[in-house]
Amino acid sequence: YGDGNQKIDYVFKVVLIGDSAVGKSQILSRFARNEFSLDSKATIGVEFQTRTLVIQHKSVKAQIWDTAGQERYRAVTSAYYRGAVGAMLVYDITRRQSFDHIPRWLEELRSHADKNIVIILVGNKTDLENQRAVPTEDAKEFAQKEGLFFLETSALDSTNVESAFLTVLTEIF
Ligand code: GTP
Ligand code: MG
Repeated sequence: YGDGNQKIDYVFKVVLIGDSAVGKSQILSRFARNEFSLDSKATIGVEFQTRTLVIQHKSVKAQIWDTAGQERYRAVTSAYYRGAVGAMLVYDITRRQSFDHIPRWLEELRSHADKNIVIILVGNKTDLENQRAVPTEDAKEFAQKEGLFFLETSALDSTNVESAFLTVLTEIF
């Protein structure tokens, strides 16, 4: 049962991964509390937030896990991925390096997570279009090749944050 005593039909664990400062914590904050902060601090260890929503007439509690992009602050990898049914692989559209590291994150994900995990590639910070360093087409092509869903988001102005989570949660169903 959820906070409002409503019946929970499913609990889905979704993990966020990607380089430091791509916006993982702010994407989560936008989704879970509709909040955003420009002076967000680097995550240390693991944090999680939940939000209950109705999908196809079922009440789904999304439990979203967030860890540090920085190696020295990261959580124990195997515990982080355990039980996850969805994953968001996040890069920053203004930082090419964060996109170039995606194959490594994907490799870590594939070696630790369940083989049926639903994965979405997310290019964040579309509000900074004038600083774009990763063409949408490059990411789309990579996602297609790897069999991932793909969306570009902005945690700052809310673009596609809801859609990105809904894409994963609906597909898990
Ligand atoms: P680690 O916890 O170190 O792994 O970083 P993170 O991926 O959680 O990044 P975080 O959410 O803390 O955001 C890093 C910085 O980017 C902060 O200054 C955020 O305010 C900013 N940021 C996050 N999302 C967006 C966005 O959509 N647009 C813009 N312009 N800035 C963003
Ligand atoms: Mg963080």
